[in-house]
Amino acid sequence: MQNQIEEILVTGEELKSKAKELGKRISNDYEGKELVLIGVLKGGVVFFADLIREISIPIDMDFISVSSYGNSTKSSGVVRIIKDIDVDITNKHVLIVEDLVDTGLTLHYLKSMFENRGPKDVKVCTALDKPSRRKVELEIDYEGITIPDKFVVGYGLDYAGKYRNLPDVCVLKSSVYESKGDSE
Ligand code: IMP
Ligand code: MG
Repeated sequence: MQNQIEEILVTGEELKSKAKELGKRISNDYEGKELVLIGVLKGGVVFFADLIREISIPIDMDFISVSSYGNSTKSSGVVRIIKDIDVDITNKHVLIVEDLVDTGLTLHYLKSMFENRGPKDVKVCTALDKPSRRKVELEIDYEGITIPDKFVVGYGLDYAGKYRNLPDVCVLKSSVYESKGDSE
C-alpha cells in the first residue's frame, strides 16, 4: 500500500491535534446541553474516534451510513441513506461529524433531514475541507483542515473501498486510478 502513495497531505498527528482543539471548543459550547454526535460512516469513523476522546462532557452518539453511488473519485450528488440513526434527536443538540466536505451535497442533505426531526439545533464538524469544490452553500461550525482540490485517501477516506486504514491523508499515484479506468 505504501508504495502507491504519491504524497502525504495531512498527517494523522495533525488531525489528532485538530481533534483536540475542536473537542475543547465543543466541550465548552455544549456544556450543560444534551448533545448527540452523529458520525457519517464509513469515512468519518477515524476522526470520530479521535474527536470523542477529546470531549469532556457527557454525549450520546450514533452513526448514519450514506452513499453517493459508485466507486468513482467523483461525487454523484445523489445521497442514499443506507443505515439511519436509532437515537431520538427530538429536543437534542445534534452535531454531525464528517471526514471531508467536498461539494457539500451530503452534509447539506443530512443537515436538513435531521432538522426535520425536531432537534434543538444541527451543527456540522469536519476533519477536512475542500472549499474550492463546493456546489451548495454550507456553514461548517467546527472546521478541521483545509486541503486543495486533490483526491485523497487514508485516515478513514477510501478509494473504491480501500486505503481507509492508512494513518495519514495521502494522494495516491495516478497509476492507481488509471489501472481502474478512472482518470480524475
Ligand atoms: P460531498 O457530498 O461532495 O461533500 O462529498 C462528501 C463525501 O465524498 C465525503 O464524505 C467523502 O466520503 C467523499 N469524498 C469527497 N472527496 C473525497 C476524497 O478526496 N477522497 C475520498 N473520499 C472523498
Ligand atoms: Mg464521507
